[in-house]
Amino acid sequence: MAKKLWEKNIDVNPEIERFTVGRDRELDLLLARYDVLGSIAHSTMLESIGMLTKEEMESLHGELRNIYATIEKGEFVIEEGVEDVHSQVELMLTRRLGDTGKKIHSGRSRNDQVLVDLKLFTRHELQEVCTAVKGLFDALIEQSEKHKDVLMPGYTHLQVAMPSSFGLWFGAYAEGLADDMLFLQAAYRMCNRNPLGSAAGYGSSFPLNRTMTTELLGFDSMNYNVVYAQMGRGKSERNVAFALASVAGTLAKLAFDACMFNSQNFGFVKLPTECTTGSSIMPHKKNPDVFEIMRAKCNRLQTLPMDIAMIMNNLPSGYFRDLQVIKELFLPAFNEIKDCIAMATYIIERIEVNKEILADSRYDAMFSVEEVNRLATEGMPFRDAYKKVGLDIEAGTFTPNKNVHHTHEGSIGNPCNKEIAALMENIYASMDFEKTVNAEQNLLGR
Ligand code: ARG
Repeated sequence: MAKKLWEKNIDVNPEIERFTVGRDRELDLLLARYDVLGSIAHSTMLESIGMLTKEEMESLHGELRNIYATIEKGEFVIEEGVEDVHSQVELMLTRRLGDTGKKIHSGRSRNDQVLVDLKLFTRHELQEVCTAVKGLFDALIEQSEKHKDVLMPGYTHLQVAMPSSFGLWFGAYAEGLADDMLFLQAAYRMCNRNPLGSAAGYGSSFPLNRTMTTELLGFDSMNYNVVYAQMGRGKSERNVAFALASVAGTLAKLAFDACMFNSQNFGFVKLPTECTTGSSIMPHKKNPDVFEIMRAKCNRLQTLPMDIAMIMNNLPSGYFRDLQVIKELFLPAFNEIKDCIAMATYIIERIEVNKEILADSRYDAMFSVEEVNRLATEGMPFRDAYKKVGLDIEAGTFTPNKNVHHTHEGSIGNPCNKEIAALMENIYASMDFEKTVNAEQNLLGR
């Protein structure tokens, strides 16, 4: 049986084939279950428009569900000589069902198959990323609340600047994640539209019922215009990558803070010992390698939108094989970011904070603004108060009052964690993950 969907009567040069197939046989395994779901929806629709009999549809569904089970068991392979997952699934159906298997490709192309696979895969992965981000967010808010009143130095130019708190430090990263979640939400919405039926990028003369496949697959709507559906390849990945990069940016900064504040020269936080790594020569070392690896991975993830843009930037509309190469960068990015988020969550939940930092006199000067403000409140013009405190510090006669009293929104005494949590909650709740999970379970007859 021919292993290539397009095989007619010319043999392809094996080197050309190796080069053009690239890493598809390995990477498409990540898309396999979605290829099956897309095929169940497509064949259901073909039956509804009279292109398949009910019996044919049912036997296809039976085999597709068997293939799905094989994928779940980790036993699905793309065989030698088979180009990609779309070809493999069709080959298996044809082997088992003969002509019925050959009918499933009516009204579709591998171009819209890979589009729908990518959308379903990305939708699933985004769901996991959002849930993971929410978990890290909750851990940060909890730590912020717990250490609301523990002061720490705030820095500008890495110079001791003003009093801050662990409540603010943890809470700042939580609020950062709430903003990142907005990007994830936009990415999810853009992704959750059905491209199936766009075929090679220009639709089909069969009377396809795209509304039906949209509903069956649990998409919010379709990518209506078939040309746009195809044009969305690359753009969709790049936009999702922007959202991942936004999360990665937050994590990379958190990682740097954590490494720095964990160093003996700061001693503000302590990583759980089980989360540190040793040195082969220095017996005392407890290194924060975990945050360093996280920082590097997250910095690299921030180049992902650019890397994707460089591949697709100058392509006109319509399908090009260039788009295949995006998978090499895009598909592994989800495990990468999920891994980093999981590490960050584990450590943030367990990190210890130093409650005695301010006992060290090197931080005394950071109370200067508090003193200036106190004098100003008592009636001394701000500029005179500023000068007086400055001269006192120079003369070594400044004695800090370490009782800070900040009350405005988002300040030490009023970090607004409830408001931040409400922001996050709203965005997270707006993504109806359950609908997509139910649709997929229905397709599998579960
Ligand atoms: N592996 C291909 C990709 O990812 C699948 C689509 C192939 N389409 C084509 N016209 N050659 O883009």
